[in-house]
Amino acid sequence: MSDDLKRLAALAALEEIRNGMVVGLGTGSTAAHFIRELGARVRDGLNIVAIPSSEASREMAEQGGIRLTTLGEHPHINVTVDGADEVSPQLDLTKGLGGALVREKVVAHASERVVIIVDEGKIVEKLGSRAVIPVEVVPFAVDFVIHRLSAWGGLPRVREKDGKVFVSDNGNYVIDWKYGPLDQPALVEKQIKSVTGVVDSGLFCQVAQLVIVAGSGGIRKMVRDTSYGI
Ligand code: 5RP
Repeated sequence: MSDDLKRLAALAALEEIRNGMVVGLGTGSTAAHFIRELGARVRDGLNIVAIPSSEASREMAEQGGIRLTTLGEHPHINVTVDGADEVSPQLDLTKGLGGALVREKVVAHASERVVIIVDEGKIVEKLGSRAVIPVEVVPFAVDFVIHRLSAWGGLPRVREKDGKVFVSDNGNYVIDWKYGPLDQPALVEKQIKSVTGVVDSGLFCQVAQLVIVAGSGGIRKMVRDTSYGI
């Protein structure tokens, strides 16, 4: 997505923010635009506190003058704004190509409202069509989890960065599981989580309430349909 579109989506998400809110900050290049713009509003007098989902986002927020808090002080987040790698028509997501999936999921689950900002290229019919499914594991369990995922199919690989094994902010490894399109992502999310040694996966099912999609035609909003109790 062009930087302009990322910024457009981030600016649209600012409409969700009100004085006095506790705001969850996502991670990644699109979320970075949101943090930058939020910082500008704070410097103009907006009164919020924020909880970052990664060390990178924490640093950005601090540099922007955003007051930070913790889940200990504020266990209830009003709204979280984050990016995603894939969005399905049901508003389920794959996340974590930036490696912050676990903290992102904690922040999202602590939130009353989760707003996702993406470009139209991230919209897919089925999760797993384009992106791998990141799985964060404690280092001791990595071979065990790879073995388990291989038995289910697809190709699990330990993530590397700059020629070394990638280590998350939590001190864990990430397995990128190339599986292909998922028919039942919520089931797969539960199945992955049930493996001992797995901290969590980048499948975020039934978490987002609103997805703001930026495209060449402008902004489009996808709202999760909860009429069937989903
Ligand atoms: C990081 C994430 C990001 O939100 C996701 O990878 C999208 O990033 P970007 O906005 O840079 O495309 O889940 O863990």
